[in-house]
Amino acid sequence: MDWIKVSSYEQMSEIAADIFTEQLAKKPDSVLGLATGGSPLGFYKEMVRRCQAEEISFARATTFNLDEYVGKGPGDATSYHEFMCRNLFRQIDLPETRHHLPNGLAEDLAAECVRYEKLIEASGGIDLQLLGIGVNGHIGFNEPGSRFDSRTQVIELTEATRKSNARYFEKEEGIPAKAITMGIETIMSARKIVLLAFGANKTDAVERLKSGAVTEEFPASVLHKHPHVTVIYGK
Ligand code: F6R
Repeated sequence: MDWIKVSSYEQMSEIAADIFTEQLAKKPDSVLGLATGGSPLGFYKEMVRRCQAEEISFARATTFNLDEYVGKGPGDATSYHEFMCRNLFRQIDLPETRHHLPNGLAEDLAAECVRYEKLIEASGGIDLQLLGIGVNGHIGFNEPGSRFDSRTQVIELTEATRKSNARYFEKEEGIPAKAITMGIETIMSARKIVLLAFGANKTDAVERLKSGAVTEEFPASVLHKHPHVTVIYGK
């Protein structure tokens, strides 16, 4: 695991953008794994800037997001689909047919999980996956106790996660109780992984990750078993 300590959120975003820029330069048709939330916002802003300045292009890339809320989808301002359109997809040259998120509106959620896994596989697998980390160590929405051999699945969000995501919703009742997320094994199948963790509220999670103990009670700890992980962190 490579650890890069930064002194600002902007520096973290810049370094992450450099890693993705290098990936796209080496392999323009890369399959990229993406995340939502506060951690990658600065990174997306920088990728948009580079794309609009024609320093990089997503024209041949494919993307897969980690997760989506059950019951949410395109057109819903609080869906992860909309988050991605707003912060990245609408501002770059990635063809609309090649960005993917789990479909939180699917009638048959189990079938949707299988479809998503197969689609990732059919695209050749994820070359570079971006991750944030939850204060409880979750990656994607794989909460503590999620099995390391899990594939894309429907999970119940913990109270802690619902609370920390409450800022995105007008009313507490509006916070979804479930999500579809890539499983731990799906994430671990990515060839390279970059994890972003910035801010005082992430210090404990980063310290626990650094301690190296690998346990399903702290999902991010599985990353110690992956050969190419870079953690960019600071406060
Ligand atoms: C988002 C995701 C989550 C977040 C994590 C950190 O797609 O899968 O694991 O990365 O909850 O969220 P932020 O970045 O908002 O602190």
